[in-house]
Amino acid sequence: MVESGYKIGVLGLGYVGLPIALVMNKKYPVRGYDTNSDKVSSLNNGIDPSNEIEDAILSASTIEFYDEIKELKDCNIYIVAVPTPVDRYKTPNLDYLTLACELLTEVISKNDLIIFESTVYPGCTEEVCVPIIESKTGLKLNDGFRVGYSPERIVPGVDSRQIENVIKVVSGSDDISLKLVSSLYASVIPAGVYEAESIKIAEAAKIVENTQRNVNIALMNELSMIFDKLNIDTSKVLQTAGTKWNFHSYHPGLVGGHCIDVDPYYLTYKAESVGYYPEIILASKKINSKIPVFIAKKIIESLLEKGKTLAQCKVLIKGITFKENVADHRNSKVVDLYMELQTYNLKVDITDPLANASEIKGTYDIDLMKHPLEKYDAMILAVPHKVYLEEGWTQWQEILKDDAIIFDVKSQFAEVELPAGIKRLSL
Ligand SMILES: NC(=O)c1ccc[n+]([C@@H]2O[C@H](COP(=O)([O-])OP(=O)(O)OC[C@H]3O[C@@H](n4cnc5c(N)ncnc54)[C@H](O)[C@@H]3O)[C@@H](O)[C@H]2O)c1
Repeated sequence: MVESGYKIGVLGLGYVGLPIALVMNKKYPVRGYDTNSDKVSSLNNGIDPSNEIEDAILSASTIEFYDEIKELKDCNIYIVAVPTPVDRYKTPNLDYLTLACELLTEVISKNDLIIFESTVYPGCTEEVCVPIIESKTGLKLNDGFRVGYSPERIVPGVDSRQIENVIKVVSGSDDISLKLVSSLYASVIPAGVYEAESIKIAEAAKIVENTQRNVNIALMNELSMIFDKLNIDTSKVLQTAGTKWNFHSYHPGLVGGHCIDVDPYYLTYKAESVGYYPEIILASKKINSKIPVFIAKKIIESLLEKGKTLAQCKVLIKGITFKENVADHRNSKVVDLYMELQTYNLKVDITDPLANASEIKGTYDIDLMKHPLEKYDAMILAVPHKVYLEEGWTQWQEILKDDAIIFDVKSQFAEVELPAGIKRLSL
């Protein structure tokens, strides 16, 4: 295959697939396919329904979007970026991925290359995906078709860490595949590529990146719950400990989203399947899941200390997305916090200028508040979007009672002098 003849087909046009399609399109013709027809027609109208890509960037591209896989038949390199969630038992749901493999068997030709970008457990590409393709096409790996794995490492909400400025890990089913995958990504990613020794290593590396973050944040969350009992300010402890040169900077918080909260389960599933019961990883999941309840409990205790009647109290939560500066609300732990507060019979409102109100209604049956006008007894700065930090404290004073409680989840206002009467809590 020669570079000038590359024609790229991308399956799955979400947070990962669409940006990689755009990056590839800077150099190569690209066709995108998604099972969601509404998404495809929106993209064809120049609008990214995920709200991540500006209309002008989308309109300037030459990508053709389809909801019929046959339209990708002319492609010779396929990139798969479909969801890999967990089910309610926290085991990997590979349905989207296996469907993508089956769809590929309808369009691939001899010598085509398939690159998987979806996050999976080590071994998944070769143990699950390849056999589907081999059995349905009769083609053999490394003879009839080639496979690569290149995990996506973008950090949602961090503009400086987008595809082009993060080293791309690449891997292949044999040396020829590796060189193909490597040169393809190197040709469009200025940060360069890192050639992993095998697909399994690349798959495992991606899972480890997110598992490590999850475990480190869980440690901070555990410290926060310990220091709460000891009446010590965790943020001050971390600031102090952080003066040591080799102290790692992590902070307590709500861990949700599609990656850090999900990917470790892919590793624990695989570990258990080979007879190892992971302890630290599962303990970290358990600790992180306690945080919404912990925050709610602290709010309730403080309201009761003030002699308030819970049924008459109003709480405002600022932010519902899974992290700051993104519109993505998938698996947001703010929803768990909201549910927990509701069990105490409080009136709870949520506001979030970045979230799509109709999606929030459809997914969680929560009506977002556009302009909170009440006088609230408590306010939780759950997701410190930039816009909130710019608004600053003074604008919020108008909607808070003089004796209100503020739960500053990520300690954004630790240094701000609040009016007497206002109680500030944080993790
Ligand atoms: N979002 C991130 O920041 C991020 C970062 C790194 C890795 N990942 C991983 O990338 C993968 C994709 O995540 P995402 O956030 O882009 O998901 P997403 O839900 O935003 O997008 C996936 C798209 O795939 C489509 N789809 C589902 N099944 C399909 C199929 N069989 N064929 C074609 N299209 C199909 C969906 O309609 C959707 O539009 C996941 O494995 C995820 O863990 C995500």
